[in-house]
Amino acid sequence: MNGYPIGLHKWDLDTPALCLDAPALEQNISRMAKYFAERPASLRPHSKTHKCPTIAWMQLRAGAIGITCAKLAEAEVMAQAGIRDILIANQIVGIRKISRLVNLAAYSEVMVAVDDPANAEDLSAAAQAKGVRLRVLLEIDVGMGRCGVAPGEEALALARRVSELPGLCLEGIMGYEGHAVMIPDFEERRRVTEEAMAKLVSVRDLLEEKGIEVKIVSGGGTGTYTITGNYPGVTEVQAGSYATMDGQYRRVGIDFAPALTVVARVISVRGDRAIIDAGLKTLTPEFGMAEVVHPEGWELTRLSEEHGFLRRKGGPELHSGDPVELIPSHGCTTINLHDEYYVVRDDVVEAVWPIAARGCIR
Ligand SMILES: Cc1ncc(COP(=O)(O)O)c(C=O)c1O
Repeated sequence: MNGYPIGLHKWDLDTPALCLDAPALEQNISRMAKYFAERPASLRPHSKTHKCPTIAWMQLRAGAIGITCAKLAEAEVMAQAGIRDILIANQIVGIRKISRLVNLAAYSEVMVAVDDPANAEDLSAAAQAKGVRLRVLLEIDVGMGRCGVAPGEEALALARRVSELPGLCLEGIMGYEGHAVMIPDFEERRRVTEEAMAKLVSVRDLLEEKGIEVKIVSGGGTGTYTITGNYPGVTEVQAGSYATMDGQYRRVGIDFAPALTVVARVISVRGDRAIIDAGLKTLTPEFGMAEVVHPEGWELTRLSEEHGFLRRKGGPELHSGDPVELIPSHGCTTINLHDEYYVVRDDVVEAVWPIAARGCIR
């Protein structure tokens, strides 16, 4: 922790520190909210990125209809912060989690994804025992090859089974086009996304033809919101990273403002090599190295546990103790390493927000 840092310049924070630029965050949230205010589809932002009820509430106040979570424990944190309408865009299996889920359903409007009849039966039995009706979305595999039933007969059979189960209420379908969100060429991304959404909407058409109502059709991410969000029949978009942004989405041309940075400090300099106090326990590397934005002309080349290796590429001389600021390449997993955001405006800390759902992997 950083003692009482309010009013400190971000360079004076104890490091490494995860910083969030408040104007950039506010701008991202309002820009996305405005985009969906003008369209038939609504925004249900994924909170697995920011993991912070304060930010979820900012998104809801700006017009989001609810939030999305990846894990039950995240949903519990959000519900404890007073958020009611929550989609867990994932399967909840096993008796321990299912009993937590029906407890949560007793005091929130939680929805959960299902792709398996036996799981649906377990959910229904637990919901009945608790005296609640659990809202569910069928998860459809729209080409990502992760969870989800195939469009067509398999989806119809599961929808019929879920509709018969007394503890469940079938609200609709979801299909996440995760295989499309990072395609660098926008036209190719559009083609793959539209192909995925055509599969999803074909399931809605089939179910409705057979007399099964489909109120919700949900998909989409930060890389595809302009495509999925305009696709006829899609009712909700689950984009999450847009609020904080990160390097991987910058690289594919998504132009939300980079609100999230890590401020680190130089601890050693040898010629054109500088070592900072941020390594793998501060920044995650699965999408490449973080981008050094201060000072310019230095590049992060490697991370070990507690050390980051910078190489000089025409930048100013660095000295031990100098601050360095970086944009993480992957916001979701980097944020999950930190306890709090240092929220800065004009480079001065104005708030500290706990990352309350950090580590909520169960
Ligand atoms: C189910 C689901 N929906 C939506 C998203 C989109 O999130 P983002 O906007 O951060 O790419 C993800 C990302 O992994 C996801 O798994």
